[in-house]
Amino acid sequence: MIKQVISAVSVAAFLTLAGGADLMAQQKANPCAAKNPCAAKNPCATKNPCAAKHPCAAGGKVDPKLITRPAGTKLVAAKPAEMIKEGERLWKDTKLSTNGLSCNTCHQGNAAFNPTFAKPYPHAVAMVGEKAGLKQIQLDEMIQICMLVPMASKPLPWDSRELAALTAYTGEVQKKFKPGAAGANPCAAKNPCAAKNPCAPKK
Ligand code: HEC
Repeated sequence: MIKQVISAVSVAAFLTLAGGADLMAQQKANPCAAKNPCAAKNPCATKNPCAAKHPCAAGGKVDPKLITRPAGTKLVAAKPAEMIKEGERLWKDTKLSTNGLSCNTCHQGNAAFNPTFAKPYPHAVAMVGEKAGLKQIQLDEMIQICMLVPMASKPLPWDSRELAALTAYTGEVQKKFKPGAAGANPCAAKNPCAAKNPCAPKK
């Protein structure tokens, strides 16, 4: 009687083991079955600034006065190297916006810029024409419209160190910008899932 119980237990144990081995074999065959690297938490879903509502598309018009540097106003002058360094920090600072974005969220690796960014300022920019009806814009003013529209915030004070620093740093970014390198879609460039989804059905 005791013997029978033991053998029943060991058979059950054996079956469980065998089942487990089967499962393991299956998982080996299908690299996606076990843990789909995309399913659980899609790295694109949460911080895709464009998915939910594109912050640039939303909203109405911008009062051109808010982004036009008042006559006679000058940006804060300081050592260029210092300003560039400060600007680089602000460029990545999500506290400048009210929607959790930083300049870098959209513009990392020169994403979201159109070829107009390669031209010396002032020049025409599509967003500026659409939103504010202005035919051309200066670099510091461009920063102000990005503060207002995609960053959903307020323009920086014209005489602030922040605006001068961001302008200095963005000038450095512009020097390295080549049109066509990244394209106009701020999400296309760095969506790690778009190009090669390891789980997508093979065609
Ligand atoms: C939600 C995305 C987003 C964020 C955040 C954002 N921008 Fe932009 N930015 C854009 C888009 C889209 C364009 C292209 C506009 C166009 O060409 O019509 C652009 C264009 C620009 C340009 C180039 C315009 C040109 O062609 O001369 C500059 C400079 C710029 N942004 C600076 C900034 C700065 C500085 C910040 C942070 C304060 C910032 N942007 C934040 C989306 C964003």
